[in-house]
Amino acid sequence: MLTPNITVNDGHLFFGGADCVKLAQEHGTPLYVMDEIMIRENCRGYRDVIEAEYGGRGLICFASKALSCKELYRIVDSEGLGADVISGGELYTALQAGMPAEKLVMHGNSKSNDELRFAIKENVGRIVADNLPELARIEKIAAEMGKTVRVLLRIKPGIDAHTHDFVRTGQIDSKFGFALETGEAMEAVKAASAYAHISLAGLHCHIGSQILDTDPFAEAARVMLHFMNDVRKELGITFTDLNLGGGPGIRYTEEDDPKPFGEIVRAILTALKAACAECSYPEPFVLFEPGRSIVGGAGLTLYTVMARKTIPNIRTYVLVDGGMCDNPRYALYHSRYEAIVANRAGQPRSESVTIGGKCCESGDLIGEAMPLQHAEPDDILAVLATGAYNYSMASNYNRNPRAEMVMVKDGAARTVIRRESYEDIVRNDI
Ligand code: LLP
Repeated sequence: MLTPNITVNDGHLFFGGADCVKLAQEHGTPLYVMDEIMIRENCRGYRDVIEAEYGGRGLICFASKALSCKELYRIVDSEGLGADVISGGELYTALQAGMPAEKLVMHGNSKSNDELRFAIKENVGRIVADNLPELARIEKIAAEMGKTVRVLLRIKPGIDAHTHDFVRTGQIDSKFGFALETGEAMEAVKAASAYAHISLAGLHCHIGSQILDTDPFAEAARVMLHFMNDVRKELGITFTDLNLGGGPGIRYTEEDDPKPFGEIVRAILTALKAACAECSYPEPFVLFEPGRSIVGGAGLTLYTVMARKTIPNIRTYVLVDGGMCDNPRYALYHSRYEAIVANRAGQPRSESVTIGGKCCESGDLIGEAMPLQHAEPDDILAVLATGAYNYSMASNYNRNPRAEMVMVKDGAARTVIRRESYEDIVRNDI
């Protein structure tokens, strides 16, 4: 099984100790199921490495974009994490859940004035500035409010981690942040440090997502520290904060072999400490923004099989009652998943099928050539590792209501996001 919290009992699939067939019967489908214990273990896993390798001088900020809802913020908060928020909506949800504003990092390459005003009014711990016009807007808004804002600058360290290994070129072509190679980053440091209501605490970078190896991360840490040292030499500014973003990958299928996030963070901290020693630079306070590696494997989605359709010599479709509305990742990225028929989990996966969704769109698929038990209508289908970037990217396409989410713990499930109703669907229609 992909993760140790997935087991089979009496032919039924169990997740976090809960019987998936029963969950589907009691809550309906499509249903997102999250395992609280696993989320907590992942939070602790991150904190433990910072504690062991770096004397606890850091903050793990859960990347809300992977999954944002009140209960999740309550869980990560109780584990001592902060959160990265990328919109007024994520910020609002985090505050509503009681997250301390000081532990929030506000992101976005195109934040509105309202979002900036909201973040500054609520005293979020750090705002990551993406571009020069935004710096000017932060200064103006902070001055109007009589506040000083702790700012980090988003830097493109020039590492493209989305290749087999990684290359140190190419990333200039990104809509996020200031490029190192062009001198833009140094200009941004000069601009930010001249503003009266901006306290420039440090830098941020994020090199990509679903990265399976340690090397690109370690290289990014090294490049960033060396740039911090260049800033100190040229401008006499010593930064206190370094935010190295998120990105550690997870297992979506048995074939994936990502380095465990603990190993990745350890490699980053080792590289960072070495670079600090090399430059005689004071070791900065570090921030990480993992999303997928905290919640991805801690979730699955349950569907009801509505029909099967065999096109001779071509393929068999297994059609379910959800699809791109609750999981757009195959439609967007051709992402791979593993599926299991929850009420036939003890049987071998004897077929290779295409799992199709219910939307009026040929590309509405969960996956193709997926090994699966023989599935019949009314069976319950589980798609694994859907905890990240599924609910958070869900839509109401075809006016499908968004699915419910339950959190399981010790075999019991509680609803943490209600299923949308048709009333919800027309709520904003005039
Ligand atoms: N910090 C920043 C600034 C980011 O842009 C991201 C992800 C993260 C942290 C969290 O990265 P993670 O640890 O989850 O890899 N929708 C895509 C993923 C987009 C990620 C965007 N940024 C997907 O479904 O794969």
